[in-house]
Amino acid sequence: MEEDFKPGEPVIEVRDLYKSFGDLHVLQGVDLTVTKGENMVVLGRSGTGKSVLIKIMIGLLKQDRGDCLVLGKEVSKLDGNDLRDLRLKIGFSFQNSALYDSMTVRENLEFPLVRNIKDLTRAEINEQVESVLDAVGLLQTINQVPAELSGGQRKRIGIARTLILKPEVMLYDEPTAGLDPITCLEINELINEVKEKYQTTSIIITHDLTCARETGDRIAMLLDGKFLKTGTFEEVFDTDEERIKSFYDYNFIQ
Ligand SMILES: Nc1ncnc2c1ncn2[C@@H]1O[C@H](COP(=O)(O)OP(=O)(O)OP(=O)(O)O)[C@@H](O)[C@H]1O
Ligand SMILES: [Mg+2]
Repeated sequence: MEEDFKPGEPVIEVRDLYKSFGDLHVLQGVDLTVTKGENMVVLGRSGTGKSVLIKIMIGLLKQDRGDCLVLGKEVSKLDGNDLRDLRLKIGFSFQNSALYDSMTVRENLEFPLVRNIKDLTRAEINEQVESVLDAVGLLQTINQVPAELSGGQRKRIGIARTLILKPEVMLYDEPTAGLDPITCLEINELINEVKEKYQTTSIIITHDLTCARETGDRIAMLLDGKFLKTGTFEEVFDTDEERIKSFYDYNFIQ
């Protein structure tokens, strides 16, 4: 049975989540709800556990306790085909998402399609590759190899490769890391276009406040293992909390 989520309904629900690695207590009671069609930004300094959190959401890591439901399913209880089915509905754009260097853009995009969906005709594959490349504005690069693309273009192709399986949920891990400010703005726009075009529910992990402001319907600020504050950009940063203020100053007064 497929569940259809309507705007406002929770697609990702994290409740009182804990995760430690030995003596390192990374997540210590995380709560987060992301509703259908929403862009949720997760902000936090390096090493606060942002990537760990989304790895739990796709079942690459298991929490020590607490709940993590994605599309209505407790991820830690899934295995085999059920986990595979869930992952097919989640587009995961890795922090260092690498394209295959020896393959053209077309081949890079065909790869997840052919591997995950059987019985597609050549015409259907071509149509889907071209449609998704068009969506990220890079149709002209179809026959190029990654080495011939800019960093921003590679990032876009990485996002296109994720979109090709028509995910319901998108998890972006530092989509603008290492890109120049203009390219960052393009990636922010792309994230917003993806939301409009595919009605995805997304988590955007970043420590780039411009990206947070441009893409986030809501922002959640991870500090010391918990979300200290969740709300719109203005709500989160209109505060006397020193740690949030210093995060803001650090970003905008450099
Ligand atoms: N599989 C693992 N085994 C042991 N420690 C881990 C593991 N994964 C993550 N950690 C530790 O957990 C902490 C949080 O890591 P995480 O990758 O979530 O940070 P992050 O918030 O994504 O940081 P960044 O902004 O640098 O990407 C780090 O101290 C990291 O070393
Ligand atoms: Mg990370």
